[in-house]
Amino acid sequence: MLRLAVLASGRGSNLQTLIRSIAQGRLHARIALVLSNVPTAPALEAAQAAGIATWAEPHKKYPNRAAFDAAMLAAMHKAGVEAVVLAGYMRLLSPAFLQAYPGKVVNIHPSLLPAFPGASGAVDTLEYGAKFAGCTVHFVEEAMDMGPVIIQAALPVRGNETPESLMPRIHALEHRIYPQALQWLASGRLRLRGRVVHLLPPEEDRDTGLSTDLPAGGALINPPLEQGF
Ligand code: GRF
Repeated sequence: MLRLAVLASGRGSNLQTLIRSIAQGRLHARIALVLSNVPTAPALEAAQAAGIATWAEPHKKYPNRAAFDAAMLAAMHKAGVEAVVLAGYMRLLSPAFLQAYPGKVVNIHPSLLPAFPGASGAVDTLEYGAKFAGCTVHFVEEAMDMGPVIIQAALPVRGNETPESLMPRIHALEHRIYPQALQWLASGRLRLRGRVVHLLPPEEDRDTGLSTDLPAGGALINPPLEQGF
């Protein structure tokens, strides 16, 4: 089973969803270590409550990003980590960190990337006046919130939307798409061609030539078209 490290700086609701998905047998992976740069992060409590090993150090204790990342890498190697899941980890990763896990670092971001990268993707979406918000799971590259997209979920922004109403709606979607994306990763079904991520059919369907393409869905249009259009 794929051995994951989860990096989190805060609340840890995505971490908790992953823990639950593993317990439910939907995500065939193991969280070997949860790491944080914030020793008081609630995410660490969630990990400990589930019996998962944790590593937490304030990054300011280290002279620079490379030194902090090297300490995380050492802990991850010791724990036999094979892939890295960012779940609300609020720091950039150094090139050396990413080179240690090529194609094996994923992140979730609360916007439809490449729109609205940065620390406040959902609020930026709302303030811009975009009519769709959403979230994206993607492979991590050196630039912030860039990298090949694995899965996205969109939701219509309502007329009276506020950050307080939008954030829980986005989080609920995050909790649906992150376990799915990681299950695809864990079962070896993601292939990168150029910067496009392709999803292979499940192994049992590969020989039969069955396609996993979804039937063409209806377009999402928001605000909805009125009668006659
Ligand atoms: C999520 O909104 C995620 O998209 C972003 O950070 C937030 C983490 O939330 N990268 P949580 O700590 O998992 O509750």
